[in-house]
Amino acid sequence: MNTFLQYNPTKLFFGKGEVQQISNFLDKGLNVLVVYGGGSIKKNGVYEDVIVELNKAGATIFELSGVEPNPRLTTVRKGVDICKTEKIDFILAVGGGSVIDCTKAISAGAKYDGDTWDLITQKAPIENALPFGTVLTLAATGSEMNSISVITNWETKDKLGWGSPLVYPTFSILDPSYTFSVPRDQTVYGIVDSMSHALESYFHRTENTPMIDGFIESLLRTAIATGPKLLEDLESFEHRETMMYVSTTAFNGTLSNGTDGGDWATHRIEHAISAVYDIPHGGGLAILFPNWLEHVLEEDPSRVKQLAVNVFGISPDNKSDIEAAKEGAKALRDFWNSLGAPNKLSDYNIDDSEFDAMVEKTFIKPGVGTYKEMDRDSVRDILKRSL
Ligand code: NZQ
Ligand code: ZN
Repeated sequence: MNTFLQYNPTKLFFGKGEVQQISNFLDKGLNVLVVYGGGSIKKNGVYEDVIVELNKAGATIFELSGVEPNPRLTTVRKGVDICKTEKIDFILAVGGGSVIDCTKAISAGAKYDGDTWDLITQKAPIENALPFGTVLTLAATGSEMNSISVITNWETKDKLGWGSPLVYPTFSILDPSYTFSVPRDQTVYGIVDSMSHALESYFHRTENTPMIDGFIESLLRTAIATGPKLLEDLESFEHRETMMYVSTTAFNGTLSNGTDGGDWATHRIEHAISAVYDIPHGGGLAILFPNWLEHVLEEDPSRVKQLAVNVFGISPDNKSDIEAAKEGAKALRDFWNSLGAPNKLSDYNIDDSEFDAMVEKTFIKPGVGTYKEMDRDSVRDILKRSL
């Protein structure tokens, strides 16, 4: 194992009715900015629950609505302006990963004199941030318990991941019943995204990591067992709570303890695609990741074979490593197909006409891939396999 620091300051309140913790947690009489998306929280009752709690805490409430899926810099700037003008003390994100990521950028931007894009591009250091909490309504990204955010600058067509220890949520409310109304397609994307975070963590090259490897394998087997049952019954509390805990754990830092962190090339390529085409993140991953597996196993099948055996129960007997690994890649592809996830770029009407732009955007920051370091030809190969 590598040396590691386990640090995660987010207080997680998990379970039905835990929204009431908001009024216990907040100091009285704060100026609170509530950030949310296109209105799902007004249809499913979550908005009312949150407002009741804020009123109990005597908060003066301000609102920023309309955060887009794949949140945009223009919306972040609106939130920063409100924070500065209205002297906001605390931000409350109510939504999925996009709302939370937008809130993280607002929280850093509110304490910076220049343009928030400078912080996201790391042109300027993040030295301070407004505190914020989250009420999660979609199990997918893990943003509710990590210090990462992904923001799209639609003018330059760049989608950039960034992070800072200053943008961990101070608390997150995870009530599985708040995800009952997530439609089937977004539920599938959430399952794929959570599994991808676990899978990308799994592809590290650190020796002697049996505990974390086994933990990741268990998380993946849980998602594989639960995902189809949840899609049969979208309002099952039991399956919603399992997937919610899976998705938070898949990207809250735990799965990288003691490893080199894993290989996040697929996420880099997906962000490049959604920067150009604005497709759902989980849909892009479902298309790319099985092709990444098939690309890497040709050079080194060992880890894909381990995945095949330990997660998909494929027998390695009388098979070469490469044969067992190929069966593993196919099993993942078949599983996601069985959920109805997209499996080709053409499912989103994407052809090869923007491949050059997508390859360049993948390398917007140097160093793509660690388990297998990618060059431009490798990225192009994965895109071609995905057509
Ligand atoms: O906008 P509203 O009306 O809320 O509707 C949303 C949106 O249309 C809807 N939704 C959310 N909760 C709902 C609901 N609909 C009904 N009932 C509910 N309870 O779902 C749609 C998608 O929401 P979004 O927040 O965009 O989805 P997700 O959570 O998958 O977030 C995706 C974003 O997170 C980034 C992605 O790149 C993408 O921009 N990521 C962030 C990460 C992080 N911060 O750690 C890691 C990820 O790998 C990912 O890159
Ligand atoms: Zn993701």
